[in-house]
Amino acid sequence: MPEIKRIGYIQMSPVLGDMESTIQKIDEIVSQGISADIIVLPELCNSGYNFINYEQAWKTSEEVEHSLFIQYLESVSKNNGLFIVSGFNERYRDVLYNSSILVSPQGYVGRYRKLHLFMNEKDFFMPGNEGLPVFDAGGLKIGMLICFDWIFPEVWRILALKGADIICHPSNLVLPGLAQKAVPIHALTNRIFIVTANRVGSEGNLTFTGMSTIADPGGNVLIQASDTGEETGIAEITPALARNKSVTPRNDIFRDRRPDVYDLLTMTKN
Ligand code: ACM
Repeated sequence: MPEIKRIGYIQMSPVLGDMESTIQKIDEIVSQGISADIIVLPELCNSGYNFINYEQAWKTSEEVEHSLFIQYLESVSKNNGLFIVSGFNERYRDVLYNSSILVSPQGYVGRYRKLHLFMNEKDFFMPGNEGLPVFDAGGLKIGMLICFDWIFPEVWRILALKGADIICHPSNLVLPGLAQKAVPIHALTNRIFIVTANRVGSEGNLTFTGMSTIADPGGNVLIQASDTGEETGIAEITPALARNKSVTPRNDIFRDRRPDVYDLLTMTKN
């Protein structure tokens, strides 16, 4: 029998500048019972997104080592025996990163720092400087991307080449329907699972577009949330499907690649 895992998203609206209220919201959701191996929360879940100024971005950030938000997620992870991926406003020395963290029942595992910053994020955050790590999560290989990273096919491919079975994608998407269209295609072309955990609600002039999505290596949408509701979605998956990169008996999406003509992809900015 192939192994089955349960992966999911919590689509919600973190409270800008009020981490305690956000934790309370998450707690209400998880206390209703959450039966999953991995669950993904939205981007910048500890702080909210649309900062009015740098001071607000700074005040709502936390260091990984002293984060009450991560400590809370560690307790949820331990009590429910699951892995959690969450967006995280990360303070590191005197700068901020728009990060995603992975927590296991044994504690904090690791982070990814967003590589492609969107719009005003460039006023607050440094671009990621730790590349594209892949982590082991109970026998599953997990990669992380954050929101606007979705539009860069290179990063999905690199994580797939590094062996990611699932890419967890905390998001605060604002361009209606675009990422939701692309995510199943990235899943298809890399033959991986993707969990996009988007947020809903509004902050200032931004409205977030919901429609959190779980897609499979066939490009199928296994479950999708509404565009406005706070909802949890879980899908049962067979991880082995992500390890089979064959498309026909004579085609394999990794073995058939032609890196000898891909050099333009690694040339510095044009
Ligand atoms: C985004 O990257 N938060 C749109």
